[in-house]
Amino acid sequence: MDLGIEGKWALVCAASKGLGKGCAAALAREGVNVVITARGDEALQATAAELRAFGRGEVRTVAGDITTAAGRAAALAACPQVDILVNNAGGPPPGDFRDWGREEWIAALDANMLAPIALMKATVDAMAQRGFGRVVNITSGAVKAPIESLGLSNGARSGLTGFVAGLARQTRLAGRNVTINNLLPGPFDTDRLRKNVEAGAQRQGRPFESVWDQRRLALPTQRFGTPEEFGAVCAFLCSVHAGYITGQNWLLDGGSYPGTF
Ligand SMILES: NC(=O)c1ccc[n+]([C@@H]2O[C@H](COP(=O)([O-])OP(=O)(O)OC[C@H]3O[C@@H](n4cnc5c(N)ncnc54)[C@H](OP(=O)(O)O)[C@@H]3O)[C@@H](O)[C@H]2O)c1
Repeated sequence: MDLGIEGKWALVCAASKGLGKGCAAALAREGVNVVITARGDEALQATAAELRAFGRGEVRTVAGDITTAAGRAAALAACPQVDILVNNAGGPPPGDFRDWGREEWIAALDANMLAPIALMKATVDAMAQRGFGRVVNITSGAVKAPIESLGLSNGARSGLTGFVAGLARQTRLAGRNVTINNLLPGPFDTDRLRKNVEAGAQRQGRPFESVWDQRRLALPTQRFGTPEEFGAVCAFLCSVHAGYITGQNWLLDGGSYPGTF
């Protein structure tokens, strides 16, 4: 299927690894020009080289922290126009809410709620003027089914989700072919998941492989998702074919969520 977005410009945040990289790669394969960001420049350059090897659109990199105003300004400055915005950042650490103070909450809100809102504020009205725009926010399955130890994520991402539900339905956006949707990953095989499992294995005094396999075999699919699968869904949501899908929360979890709906 031709997604019809060749030549568009996409800003894909936090995209040197994992799910963000999966999204950037899927868009780059479609001939979208991509600006990718991450804090660490080495992995960012390696990813850019991989995307350039597709031989399609332009690939630009911006090293910086997308949760800061300076990081966002640099990312926006590198993108001639933002037709597609993929919001992403690292997730907050696990813990017990009794140990979190204002500082921890503000950091989580900055990363997983306010940064994506700031980037939408900077881009969606221009998208509407041009008559095309696609925003995909990478959130988490924890928005639908909270994960006890990830209270900061449950809270901050739910705030973003509630805000997006209203914004996406503004006629000045939806009526001008600007869609805003959230992708909710369940467990995907990325560095982040591997680090989380490694930490759990150390806490339990068990080998990594044993905890990894236990987690994997508890899934209906008996496997974790891949960044490529995640990217493919993101690219479809960014396509010309997805103009009638907005304000939605798509769970990509291999059937882990146990509800009928
Ligand atoms: N993988 C899963 O199973 C899963 C499940 C649910 C939710 N999620 C959420 O999905 C998001 C992506 O997860 P992932 O598994 O793809 O993580 P990952 O493999 O650790 O990759 C994270 C990427 O984001 C970049 N990044 C992190 N913080 C950043 C910042 N402040 N500014 C710019 N770039 C930043 C990282 O590069 P640098 O470190 O160099 O900046 C890296 O490129 C996270 O919010 C995570 O909590 C993941």
